[in-house]
Formats: sequence, C-alpha cells, structure tokens
Amino acid sequence: MMGQDHRGDGTIVSVGSFKDVLQDGLRNNYAVGQFNINNLEWTQAIVEVAGEEDSPVILGASEGAIKYMGMDYMAAIARVAAEKSKVPVILHLDHGSSFDVVMKCIRHGWTSVMIDGSHHPLEENIALTRRVVEAAHSVGVHVEGELGRIGGVEDDLSVDAREASLVRPEEAELFVRETGVDALAPAIGSAHGHYEGKPELAFDRLRQVRDRTGVPLVLHGGTGIPDEDILQAIRLGVSKINVNTENQSAFTDAVRAILLHDAKVYDPRKYLGPGREAIKNAVRAKIRLFGSGANNGQRGFAPRTTV
Ligand code: 13P
Repeated sequence: MMGQDHRGDGTIVSVGSFKDVLQDGLRNNYAVGQFNINNLEWTQAIVEVAGEEDSPVILGASEGAIKYMGMDYMAAIARVAAEKSKVPVILHLDHGSSFDVVMKCIRHGWTSVMIDGSHHPLEENIALTRRVVEAAHSVGVHVEGELGRIGGVEDDLSVDAREASLVRPEEAELFVRETGVDALAPAIGSAHGHYEGKPELAFDRLRQVRDRTGVPLVLHGGTGIPDEDILQAIRLGVSKINVNTENQSAFTDAVRAILLHDAKVYDPRKYLGPGREAIKNAVRAKIRLFGSGANNGQRGFAPRTTV
C-alpha cells in the first residue's frame, strides 16, 4: 500500500495518502490520530499499535522534534516504520512556520505538511498558505492550514481574548476557497498542553466551519479533552485529532517510576522499553476513542450529525 511516490525515486517517507485518509474519515465518521514523535521508541510505539488496531496513523513532526532528531534521521526512521507496517502511516510536518521549512521537508520525502500562518493577519496567512499549497500540490504533497489562534494552556486568556482567538466561520470559507488547503485546523478553544479546568469547545463555530468549507477539519490540543467532546467534534466534521502531551506524560511517568523504584538501573532498555509500552497503551485508547481502527469493529461509530 504505497503512498503517491511523487519523487519517483522511492524515497517518500509515508505509506498512504494524507488526503485520502482524512477524506475516508470524513465519509465514514471517524478521526485519524496525529501522534507527535520525539525519537525511535516513539515512532515504533505509535506505528506498532496502529498496526495492531488496523488503523491509519499520522506521525506528527514538530519543528522542535525535527531539530532534536535531525530531519534525515526522522525521515529514515519514519520511512522504515511506514514500510514495515500494513496500515497507512503518514509523516506530517506539525505547525510548519515558513515556506522554507516546508520545502526542506518535501525535499526529505514528506508527503504532507502543515503551514501555520495563524499568527499573521488574515491576508498574509492566506498569501503564505496559498504559496505553500501551490508549491506542494505541484509535487503531490498535501497541506493543512490553520485559522484563528490555537494557543498553549499557559496562555491565560480573558473571555474577550478567547473570543477573539476563535475561528470566524466566514473567514474559514474565504481561507479554504482562496488557499485550496486539503485540511483546516480551526481554533475552537482547544489548546496545547494539560488543561487546568475543562476545555470549552466552541461547537457552534465548528459546525458553521464544516458547513461553509466542506474540507476535513483538524482538532489540535487533543490531550485532556473529555471523550464525549471528542466524539461530538468527530460528529461535526473533525477527521484528524492531534495528541502529543498525553503521550509525553505517559512515557515520562513510566520512566520516572522505574528510576525512582530502582536507583541502580543503568541499562536504558530497562526504562525506555516500559516507556514505549506506556505510549502504546495511551495511543491505543485514543485510536479506539477516535473510531479509526478496524480491529475493534468500531471504525466510524460516531455517526455524523447534521444539526
Ligand atoms: P497536545 O499536546 O495538547 O495533545 O496537542 C498536540 C497538538 O495539537 C500538536 O499539534
């Protein structure tokens, strides 16, 4: 099940198509998880569990993680993982900040990217995203854009500031039409990191964005959003959900417990292995919640709502 080999030299890093996978989720009422990677163990854990659940999966590559792992190492590790797997495995640039970083990823074999121009005024975000889409599409690479501001939970926003940070549905319609993005991440009140209270998602805006754009929608800040809200988001057109912090916590908690329990341990496999297992458990729970796995007989169990 190879993805589109637009380079023609067999060096693409994904097996499966970002756009096809998201469109299938949109049609069949499930969301595909994007789980960010940090190293080899992370990549192995996520791809292994996706295979066990018979679920497509997206590996998220933040610029910070690319810097940490090295772009060529990350590409090579993801390529091996994807080729060994029987499910679609897609390496996706997360929050790409510039045209340049997108081009570097494409040169290294990425077949989908996010360009995050959300901190720019609307016209500039449109111009940057359109430029990326034109270049990316010309070589068969798919693009996710962002509208509104998806902050970190540390951004303690006032009610007015929160309101101002949310996506405007009429702008979403214009943005999708003008840029030609394949997927859109609209800011609906979720944030990156651990939430302090219960996140308040603006479902009315999500519904309007779905109705006005028709493209697959992406929910960022997937850690800590209650299950029923995740299901409601899927019903309202979300077909990709990003999760990072939860896996970081699961991994670190498992490693910390071992190191605290055994002050003499020095073999890294003795704690990295259980850390990898902890990521698998966390990702498995998300795949089942998102309804993307065929193995549990539940793919697409959150029927779309027209309300
Ligand atoms: P969390 O770290 O809150 O799960 O968010 C991940 C994310 O949205 C990456 O783009």
